[in-house]
Amino acid sequence: MNAPEPVPQNPMPHVMNTYGRLPIALSHGKGCWLWDTQGRRYLDALGGIAVNTLGHGHPKLVPALQDQVARLIHCSNYYEVPLQEQLAARLCEISGLSAAFFCNSGLEANEGAIKIARKYGHDRGIERPEIIVYEKAFHGRSIATLSATGNPKVQKGFEPLVEGFVRVPLNDLAAVQEVARTNPNVVAVFLEVIQGEGGINQTRADYLQGLRRLCDERGWLMMLDEVQCGLGRTGRWFAHQWAGIVPDVMPLAKGLGSGVPIGAIVVGPKAKDVLGPGNHGTTFGGNPLAMRAGVETLRIVVEDGLLDHVARVGQALRSALESGLAGESGVVEFRGQGLMIGIELDRPCGVLLQRAADAGLMISVTADRVVRLLPPLIISAEEAAQVAAILVPLVKAFLAEPRTP
Ligand SMILES: Cc1ncc(COP(=O)(O)O)c(C=O)c1O
Repeated sequence: MNAPEPVPQNPMPHVMNTYGRLPIALSHGKGCWLWDTQGRRYLDALGGIAVNTLGHGHPKLVPALQDQVARLIHCSNYYEVPLQEQLAARLCEISGLSAAFFCNSGLEANEGAIKIARKYGHDRGIERPEIIVYEKAFHGRSIATLSATGNPKVQKGFEPLVEGFVRVPLNDLAAVQEVARTNPNVVAVFLEVIQGEGGINQTRADYLQGLRRLCDERGWLMMLDEVQCGLGRTGRWFAHQWAGIVPDVMPLAKGLGSGVPIGAIVVGPKAKDVLGPGNHGTTFGGNPLAMRAGVETLRIVVEDGLLDHVARVGQALRSALESGLAGESGVVEFRGQGLMIGIELDRPCGVLLQRAADAGLMISVTADRVVRLLPPLIISAEEAAQVAAILVPLVKAFLAEPRTP
């Protein structure tokens, strides 16, 4: 029998031990740089996992948030919140959709999307509506969103899972057509345009276009989880815009508030009136502080020309990584778009997290063997070059080591 895995010591014994944390405590940040409580400096190529759109301490965001904190942080959805209308109108403008609901996180936005799909089905007389979801998907850790997630590790121990999901592989339209042929209860497809936690797996443009056509033919909702890949990360506002399509439901979160917790479900005409008063709600959702963070983030992204910047600097970073690691047989593939970059290695590489931090760089490793970069969108060309200059030798040295059995 194998010995049980040693349980790592919890450095914060009064905090529930749900994360594998590095022994680093961050104290403050400026731009793309973070400092820890020991005074060590790190280049941030993680962005709080695609959250810190504008980096840290952005000179335009900080005074706006200070102003909002002094004015009004929270009221209640008993009342009108003009900043909700302002942010919703702007999200509609940049997405071509019609209305938004505000919540506080990615899983909440996805949970709401699942509710919209089910209610949409019931409104059409489908008593047991089902949603097509994907292998390797990640949609969150509530019971419904972990059931939609395509990773058994996330689900293990939390069974019974929520029913009503049919799973298919990514980029395989025939698989979806087969479900359409055999399952009359399907009401929606639900997918990430670029799977983030699953290892930076991109949907092809022709696949998204085919799916859009199928959704139109069948009267299904096309629900695109842009929680990680949205909000400018790929060089367009939303990753699906590269394929020239418009979804019916689009959950957002992470980068929308540049660090202030926020989530949104943005919906088009087909889904706009599915939920009515009493169908959905949340105490904190749409609070003035989060709304102001969203409004200012979108304003600053435009004012600072960040979409074009992301496309340019993302390409430069990708090229520097590709040329630096050219000929390395342990590198399986480079994936991603803009400032959402994955380098798949041929072996698990979680140790690179600590090694990168020791070298002054914050990165992520996902799906065991994919080095993932999600830096703030403000990262400069020089800083991007520095990311590659630190990361390339680390990866090379790692791949040169004998494999652990
Ligand atoms: C695509 C996607 N959807 C949903 C979530 C869940 O978001 P949250 O952690 O804010 O609940 C994540 C988080 O990583 C994500 O990447």
